[in-house]
Parts: sequence; structure tokens; C-alpha cells
Amino acid sequence: MSGKISNSRPPCGARKPRKIRDGVFYVGAADWDRALFDALIPLPDGTSYNAYLIEGSEKTALIDAVEPRKIEELLDQISGVNRIDYIVSLHAEQDHSGGIPHVLERHPEAKVVANAKAKTMLQDLLALPEEVFLTVKEGDALSLGGKTLEFIMTPWVHWPETMCAFLPEEGILFSCDMFGAHLASSELYATDRGRVLEAAKRYYAEIMMPFANVIRKNLEKIGRFPIQMIAPSHGPVYADPGLILEAYGEWASGPPKNLVALPYVSMHGSTQQMVDCLLAGLVNRGVRVAPCNMENGDIGKLAMSLVDAGSLVLAAPTVLGGPHPNLFYAAFLAAQLRPKAKFLSVIGSYGWQAKTAETLTGVFASQKMEVLEPVLAKGLPKAAEREALDRLAATIAEKHRENGFA
Ligand code: FEO
Repeated sequence: MSGKISNSRPPCGARKPRKIRDGVFYVGAADWDRALFDALIPLPDGTSYNAYLIEGSEKTALIDAVEPRKIEELLDQISGVNRIDYIVSLHAEQDHSGGIPHVLERHPEAKVVANAKAKTMLQDLLALPEEVFLTVKEGDALSLGGKTLEFIMTPWVHWPETMCAFLPEEGILFSCDMFGAHLASSELYATDRGRVLEAAKRYYAEIMMPFANVIRKNLEKIGRFPIQMIAPSHGPVYADPGLILEAYGEWASGPPKNLVALPYVSMHGSTQQMVDCLLAGLVNRGVRVAPCNMENGDIGKLAMSLVDAGSLVLAAPTVLGGPHPNLFYAAFLAAQLRPKAKFLSVIGSYGWQAKTAETLTGVFASQKMEVLEPVLAKGLPKAAEREALDRLAATIAEKHRENGFA
């Protein structure tokens, strides 16, 4: 029996499903007010937790089930659905799976469709019982009657269990976190391309960049499917999938650019003078610079610059013999994101002793980055340090040129 959406008028303020194609509806929720994700990632534009309802002639499937704080919006939108046969869980993280127990309460007839790894994670995270699961693997298909969901295993976008579902009758790829954007919007589709790409790049930088190798493989894998639309689990739907596919190709596979990521903090102005001096030297030589003040730092902005940067220079004053903690935090995070930058350096001011350069470069010990001579100044930068900063700018410009960074 199909779970057709009823025509009855919803109560005032209740959300209605939004039609994407015949029998395919958006039933997710925008979260305009969320300011931080994972208690870590700033969300300047909020986010959305997307969910989709697919009605076949025989069965109805819900793809993902939103973050629990927005479960009422999902339940509103599916309140007219008589029966849900399948809740497809593409990814076990709670911003997509957390609502599943609530949907199951309303629809105890539903089976939770997940791959074997996701099943164990959902059991760990949500305490779902064994009997609710229908396990699928690579290449399996679920027929809904005139509509089919084909499952594609895409590990590490964003966790090891993540998968996509392809609806061949409509050419829609449900990609979960991959191709997502933390962007709350009243628009269903990616119409403001610049704004969407900016949010998608920020999302890629923060969530996907450490897995660029597997993203390349996953892009190759999904490239075999005739995709006409991409429906991710955060942000707008791509009616023109080329927009985000090309961007991902560039972000994951493109060479580093003639750009220096320059996170910095200054306590009394000395390190700021060094930053200004280096910045001028780089700009004068045609090198682009992305400075990022980490005093109240937006780590998303830093992460975005690391998608493209050929070099990373950390500008840190010394506090108690080591780097300012905000810069240590920036360095730790940058190393975890595994950027494609090839060159690394440290600049900064100190008072009486400094292990700042060793400490910061040590964070990147496991990465293949060439460390360029750090420049440290006792107090204000004097002529010697200013000359050293200019030499560092010249070295970076030369290295970028030699490596063909454009
Ligand atoms: Fe949107 Fe990895 O969860």
C-alpha cells in the first residue's frame, strides 16, 4: 500500500512537502538559528537538514530523518502520509538519523534501510533494535513501484558508513553530506550560484577536505550514473548538477594556487607589523594572500583558504615560551584538514624566549610540507627581521612560480 500525501489542508503554520518531481518531495527543515556545528564549526548562514519522501506505486520511502531539534517540521510535512515502508539512512550522524526513532514511533511499520556499517552505528547511537533494519550493500536496489532506489557506497563522505542513493527514473542522486552546504534558505534550489558555492566551499573545507583522496574516488564512481539532479542532505538542491560536480573536481583535484593562507594573532602590535610586512612583500610579488585574524577567529574562513593555498604561514606571538594558543588551535585544525599546501612557515614576535616555530611546525610533522625559514622578532621587528620577512615573501613567490601555482 502506498503512503500518498493527503490533500487535506495542514494547520496554520505547518509545513507542507515541496514537490521536486512527481512522487518526489522535499520534507527537510532549515535551521536559521544554529550558530555552531559539532560545537566547533561556525555557521554564519545557519544550515538545513534535508529529508526527501519518495512515493512509488507500491511503497513509500523517506530518505533521512533530520536533526531531532527539527523533528516537528519533518513530522508536520509527513503528517498526511498513511504509511512509510522504508526510512533510508544514508549516514548515521545524528543530524540526519536523530529523527528516525520519532518517525518510527509514528510509523512502526517502517524498516530502516542501512548498510551493515551504518546499522551497527545506528544501533550504537540511537539504540535501534535489530528487527527494524533492512540491510543493503553496494549495487542493491529497492523497488517502490515505478521508482527505484539504487545504493552506492561512498565511504568517508563524511563517516566510513556513508552511502548515496540514486533514483534512475528521475536521475536524482541523494548524496547526503557530499555536495552539502551549511545554508538555511527559503529557496529549494541552488539559484544564487555564488552564495551557494561559497557555502558549499566552506562546507567542503570543514567537512570533506581531509578525505580528498576518497572524494576523488567517489566522484569517479558516481560519474558512472546519469545524474540530472543532486539532492544533498544540507543546503539547496542542484537542478544543475554540473555546478557542484565541477566545483568538487577543482577543490579535490585541482593544484594548489598562488595563494598564502595567513592566520594570525597580535597581542601588542609587533606580530601585526610582521604580518603587514610579509603581506606587502607577497602582494608586491603577485602572490595572493588570505589573512585570517584568529583573535575571534572564524575557522571556516581559514579552512576555505586552505582549499586552495599553496603555502601556509602561521603568525603567532609567543605566550609563556610557546605560540599563542589561538594559533596553536589554528595549526592543529589546519593539520587535521590535511590541506594541499606545499610550503609552511612561522613568523611572530617574542619577549625573552621562544619555541614557537618548533612547536607550530611540529604540528605538521606527518605532512609533506617544506618548512621555509621562520622569522621571529624580539619585540618589534627591526630592519633585520623586516629584511628576513621580505626574503620569506620572495622565497614563497619563487617556490610558487617553480611549482606552477597560478
Ligand atoms: Fe551532516 Fe556528517 O552529517
